[in-house]
Amino acid sequence: MEIITSVKEIQKISFCLRAEKKQIGFVPTMGALHQGHISLIKECKKNNDWTIVSIFVNSIQFNDQNDYKNYPRPLDNDLNICQELQVDTVFAPSLKEMYPEEFLTFVNVEKLSSNLCGEYRPGHFEGVATIVTKLFNITNPHRAYFGAKDYQQTQIIKKLVRDLNFDIEIIVLPTIRDENGLALSSRHKYLSQEEKKQTYVLYKSLKKALSLLDKNIKDPKIIIDQINKIIVKEHLANVEYIKICDPVHLSDLKYISNEALIALAVRFEKARLIDSIIWRKN
Ligand code: PAF
Repeated sequence: MEIITSVKEIQKISFCLRAEKKQIGFVPTMGALHQGHISLIKECKKNNDWTIVSIFVNSIQFNDQNDYKNYPRPLDNDLNICQELQVDTVFAPSLKEMYPEEFLTFVNVEKLSSNLCGEYRPGHFEGVATIVTKLFNITNPHRAYFGAKDYQQTQIIKKLVRDLNFDIEIIVLPTIRDENGLALSSRHKYLSQEEKKQTYVLYKSLKKALSLLDKNIKDPKIIIDQINKIIVKEHLANVEYIKICDPVHLSDLKYISNEALIALAVRFEKARLIDSIIWRKN
């Protein structure tokens, strides 16, 4: 497995792979790899000749500098995981390599970035769209893999790929959950034992929303209220938002007809967790 830190070098590798007609699969990450990332890497390995994994904690997508400073960076462990999974190339650049002085160009996917997490994390999706655009340009993959847990992120990336004419297939794989239904996230290490026990309410409340919809209860206000009631039962969980949106445009729905995204963000003392689920009429 090669570990590359320079943009020029990884560009050269992908240029040569393309010249050899090799299919390149790409899994962008911020490291602290867990089973969610592992499922993306495995799928990427299955369907491509060459798998590139990037590990880069992208400073510009953090709206809170403390969150950036404290974000886990277990690089050796991440490299071991990549090695075990037989990743071909890891791209792990420095901050300076990705954002040299006087970096002035940013990518903003309008509208899709403003609701949900965008409302509570100003600048976050601009940071994501900018780094993903850069990484796509640098690694030039045929396919790129993302987890459905970050639903809004996946919609934004699909849109930027269409709008900026990237010839890249975006593959979104299902959320991986622990035995209590908690969607895996690199931020779980911030949770105390007690908090961890209470996190089950996120998925429980989403499943309740699905069951209400299946019973033909279509008023978002009623469903949001029910979700909220379940979450507030756990005293360490603080709801940031609960929203029911159109799954494509990510705008709030006043009434649910054929499909809906039910999404939430919940804060524990040091961790902000997100989760979502899609409901579709049978
Ligand atoms: O989902 C993530 O881990 C990050 O947002 C991404 C896509 C790697 C960009 O930094």
